[in-house]
This record gives sequence, structure tokens and C-alpha cells, in this order.
Amino acid sequence: MEPVAEVPAAGRGGRAGQRGRYGIDGGFAGLGVFAVIEAGLAGTVAWAVRHRRPAAAALAAVGGAAVAGSAASYLYSTGPGKRAIWTQLLDELDLRGDEHVLDVGCGRGAVLMLAARRLPAGRAVGADVWRRRDQSGNSRAAAERNAVVEGVADRVELVDADARDLPFASASFDVVVSSLAISNIRDAGGRAQALREAVRVLRPGGRLRIVDEGAERYATVLRDVGCADVAVRQLDWRTWYGLPGHHFPLVTAARPPG
Ligand SMILES: C[S@@+](CC[C@H](N)C(=O)[O-])C[C@H]1O[C@@H](n2cnc3c(N)ncnc32)[C@H](O)[C@@H]1O
Repeated sequence: MEPVAEVPAAGRGGRAGQRGRYGIDGGFAGLGVFAVIEAGLAGTVAWAVRHRRPAAAALAAVGGAAVAGSAASYLYSTGPGKRAIWTQLLDELDLRGDEHVLDVGCGRGAVLMLAARRLPAGRAVGADVWRRRDQSGNSRAAAERNAVVEGVADRVELVDADARDLPFASASFDVVVSSLAISNIRDAGGRAQALREAVRVLRPGGRLRIVDEGAERYATVLRDVGCADVAVRQLDWRTWYGLPGHHFPLVTAARPPG
């Protein structure tokens, strides 16, 4: 393991994840929808001005501003907002720095690199199938590049793996995290299997943190497999993803000691 002193400054402090490039959740399809609506509304404004319909022009302009705001919120949530939320969640874990942390469905590594910064003597392992429709530019190579530019490549490991069948020994991680990944498994049985796998690889006393659409429902599965301290809390406006009032839930749990 490289000593902390040899990690570039960006890997020890500074603003979280500011050097890497982490793509857009949901790929570019979501932004395409915003662009099409925006173009339609701009055309309506132009038409209304040409035909002297001030009320229609004003309405379309207000709609355009709302859609632009929604797109801005989406971009914020998928980028700086996500990193700010996870900076807080990882700070709350109060890591010693020598833990082994697994990120299930790490994608390009936005959360994984934040965890790796806190592990100068530990390991940050990212497992994914790297589906492009779930995140723009998603690939193992993109995550590898981010580990290098964030100065944490010495402690990051990337593994091609399906969340439902993790290739890790039982009880091999101190912390398992997952951000917006398990909900991409279409069937409830598959999502439950992924949750069981996340718990299996946690050591006794290990902690689980999942932010995901519908994560409230994960709590039942986690209780059924014997997790302790299972709790759900709604995150704040930083998880709006373009829809004011929409909040992603966080589910926290621990594997009972012994
Ligand atoms: C919206 S992206 C989120 C990526 C990353 N966790 C983040 O927050 O930036 C969802 C990720 O889940 C991954 N994923 C989807 N189904 C998966 C599965 N069955 N096993 C592992 N990863 C999966 C996708 O490849 C993608 O990287």
C-alpha cells in the first residue's frame, strides 16, 4: 500500500470527486427528453410572438423556464448533489481508514472514489456490470481512469460482477454501499437476491448504506435476513433529480455482531 504522503493532494482533501468525470445517471436519454420539450416550448414562444398572442407566449416562456430549471436540478442531482450527499453519508460512518468497502453497482465510481479517499490503509472495491443505459459513458475503463485522476488507484479494485451473484467471500467487507444501482434490476426477486448478497459479504458488525429509488421496500428484506438497526430516511432536495419534492430514500442496516 502506498503511504498517504504519496497520494496527490486531490486524493486527501479538497472538494469531493472534483477531478473525475462521472457521467449522467440514466444516460443521455433523460436529457434528450428535456431538450425536446424545451425546443417545443421555444417554438411555441416564437409562434405566439409572431402571431401577437402575448398570453400564449408568456405561458410557453414560463413552461420553458420550468423545464430548464428541472433539467438543471437533474444535472445537479446526478453530479454535485450525489457527491455532496455521499460525502455526508461517508463522514457519518466515521471510517478509521483501514476498512474494506464494497460499492455495489459503482458505475464510473462517484461514490467509490469518495470512499477510497477515506481509506488510506484500506480497500475500496467496485462491482458492476457497467450498463451504458444506466449511466452515460459507463465502463470499467472510465472508473479506472477516475481512480487514477482522483489519486486513489492504489486502493481501488474494480470487478465485473452482477449484484445478484457477488464473487466475494462471505463476511469480507466492513461496509457495503450502493447508490441508485439495485433498482435497475427489474424483478423484485432479483433485487432481494442482490440485498441478500450485500448482507452475505458483510462481516458481523459490518454496515450497509443504500440510496435508491424504492429503498423503503428493501428494509423488509433486510430485516428478514436478520439485519440489525434497519432504518429508512428520506434524503433532501439534493436528490430531486428534476422533480421538486422527490426525495430518494436512504436505507441503513448492520449485520449483527457475532
Ligand atoms: C445509475 S448508475 C449508478 C452508478 C453509481 N452507483 C453512481 O451512483 O454513480 C446504476 C449502476 O448500476 C449498475 N447495475 C445495473 N444492474 C446491475 C446488476 N445487476 N449488477 C451490478 N450492477 C448493476 C449499472 O451498470 C450502473 O453502473
